[in-house]
Amino acid sequence: MRQSLVIGNWKMNGSLGLTSELLHAIEDAIDDKISCEIGVCIPFVYINVAQQLVKQTAIKVGAQTVSEYQSGAYTGEVSAEMLAEVGCKWVLVGHSERRTLFNESNLLLVEKVLAAQAARLVPVYCVGETEADYKSGVTFDVIKEQVEALLSNQAVDLDQLVLAYEPVWAIGTGLTASPEEAQKVHAFIRGLVKEKNIKSAERLQILYGGSVKPDNALSLFGQRDIDGGLIGGASLDANAFISICQKA
Ligand code: PGA
Repeated sequence: MRQSLVIGNWKMNGSLGLTSELLHAIEDAIDDKISCEIGVCIPFVYINVAQQLVKQTAIKVGAQTVSEYQSGAYTGEVSAEMLAEVGCKWVLVGHSERRTLFNESNLLLVEKVLAAQAARLVPVYCVGETEADYKSGVTFDVIKEQVEALLSNQAVDLDQLVLAYEPVWAIGTGLTASPEEAQKVHAFIRGLVKEKNIKSAERLQILYGGSVKPDNALSLFGQRDIDGGLIGGASLDANAFISICQKA
């Protein structure tokens, strides 16, 4: 049985005040109705403070991107070792905003996954098709290319990894893939991993992301291969986030 996992992706939102306010509110609302793992991937500068705040709780902190390099003259970059040192458990890799706005390629993203794993972080590798891909019926080809980029690298540890399927057209738009549609893609992804390693594929948590809200979470998380969610907008509202965690 895979444990459900819900990760909030705050993106470039928040402040010191909001970090403490949100984390306290989430912590206060955690009760025995929640059995999923809970993560929050937050801006770098708040990680240290957040880590102190959640130390005694079930919430774990993560980052939203990481450098592919270990250390050195890479102005502005943050290494996986640094993230591990301040207590991160997860790091998002290849969120569609990184892929499109910052031109991050599959090749680069695989290097980031390896850098994260080398520092014992769990990379959350995100994949997803654009609206144009979706409309022209090439969703499975796009997903295959993004997932295969990772799987074809023998150094990637499939047991220290989370995958997230986020249709780009569903991110922040209020649109979601139907639970059945999302399930098909999740099953397809797990099938690709199965070709490499059956046990790892069975253990792998595959999250769905893209306008997950309290009212659609249950039907999405009820699908066989959907193991939780990557939550953007709704993760900035403690009540909505907790409600989604309860559904997982
Ligand atoms: P959303 O974002 O929930 O606001 O659609 C999801 C994401 O970008 O990870």
